[in-house]
Amino acid sequence: MSYKVKDIELAEQGELNIGWATDHMPVLGIIKQRFQREKPLKGVTIAASLHCTKETAVLIRVLEAGGAKIALAGSNPLTTQDDVVAALAKTGTNVYTWRGQTKEEYYWCINKVLDYKPNITIDDGCDLVSTIHSDRTELLKGVKAGSEETTTGVIRLRAMADSKALKYPMIAVNDTPTKNMFDNRYGSGQSTIDGVIRATGGMLLAGKNFVMSGYGWCGQGIARRAAGMGCSVIVTEVDPVRALEAAMEGYKVMSLEDAAKIGDIFVTSTGCKHVIDRKHLEVMKSGAVLANSGHFNVEINIPALEEMSTRKTRIRPSVDEYNTKDGRKLYLLAEGRLVNLAAADGSASEVMDMSFANHALVAEWLTKTNLDIAVHDVPRGIDQMIATLKLEAMGFKLDNLTEEQRKYLTSWQEGTV
Ligand SMILES: NC(=O)c1ccc[n+]([C@@H]2O[C@H](COP(=O)([O-])OP(=O)(O)OC[C@H]3O[C@@H](n4cnc5c(N)ncnc54)[C@H](O)[C@@H]3O)[C@@H](O)[C@H]2O)c1
Repeated sequence: MSYKVKDIELAEQGELNIGWATDHMPVLGIIKQRFQREKPLKGVTIAASLHCTKETAVLIRVLEAGGAKIALAGSNPLTTQDDVVAALAKTGTNVYTWRGQTKEEYYWCINKVLDYKPNITIDDGCDLVSTIHSDRTELLKGVKAGSEETTTGVIRLRAMADSKALKYPMIAVNDTPTKNMFDNRYGSGQSTIDGVIRATGGMLLAGKNFVMSGYGWCGQGIARRAAGMGCSVIVTEVDPVRALEAAMEGYKVMSLEDAAKIGDIFVTSTGCKHVIDRKHLEVMKSGAVLANSGHFNVEINIPALEEMSTRKTRIRPSVDEYNTKDGRKLYLLAEGRLVNLAAADGSASEVMDMSFANHALVAEWLTKTNLDIAVHDVPRGIDQMIATLKLEAMGFKLDNLTEEQRKYLTSWQEGTV
């Protein structure tokens, strides 16, 4: 066992936090009990690059219970919970990450977990997979397959597959309904608002113009929660169907050029680059608050903001005040990194239960399956099993189709009566 974390003395608090998450992740609890008995991952080495939260710790312990050897790194320089990784290190996990890394330190940790020569990779954002494919190609022969947690990672993987650069099969956990419908929508929806509130020390949302750029899974959740807090929500989009959906949900839809002039709070979650660009920053009101909840810190053009400013002051741990040359103050939260993870605790244990149950069951399935080199969906059976277990844990009951109904739904003869 080896590790590099900020402070191993934080382990006791980390263990308490992991305990809280464990109690709120019943699906992973059921999987863990079976894994302990059956050891389906015995002899498998898994390298993971994930936001190192208390929920991730629960997943790691499920994989370890299944017999896997794990090496864990973060998936963002600013989202590791130092107490949680201290607890993992103290109980024997090979873990290399801390909050507040330089880019060099971040990739040092990624390379450190790759030194374990994984058979399976679990990634959030595709940095682990892209490092294997560019700098550590000697490892390719030993990797059987991998799973990817987020939309941006899946976009990168599909681009790799399209250009024939992908060299082992990947499973798009992000795209399965028990992941994106819940984690992206309800999880990042709630935690992004939590991040904005915590970062700003409790800024009032009621009555503010809240500009949501991107109305995908995450954007829908964030917009709904912002509206629930009393904001007037404005949506900006590039996809006409999604823009229409936002309009019919009751939000104002406009170009970001128009929204930039009236917004009080701006949040991006698009997976795209420079969504909030110099031309938008130039017309924003003094006092505007900017945050990103998409995977990378490129959604707001931060270099342009730096160039436009005479001074930058860290006025709170997750708030930088930029004084622009024309006399305005613009506030950037969490250095433009995922605000829900960098300024709050990330998505709730209850939804991460389903996302991470997918990774655990996919890892087990991958040990028994030989796949083509491509980006694959999670098998429908796994998704259905997770939803069923989650419903049971929440105490909700399903109806069952009768034989007559089952037959009706698979036949064509009966029509208008
Ligand atoms: N913060 C979190 O906890 C969390 C959780 C899941 C996903 N993510 C990340 O959030 C981002 C969005 O994920 P998603 O699942 O909602 O993706 P999605 O594909 O469902 O939605 C993205 C939306 O952004 C729109 N868009 C793209 N470029 C745009 C632009 N320039 N201006 C306005 N709209 C634009 C797209 O049309 C699309 O509707 C990704 O980077 C993903 O990896 C973050």
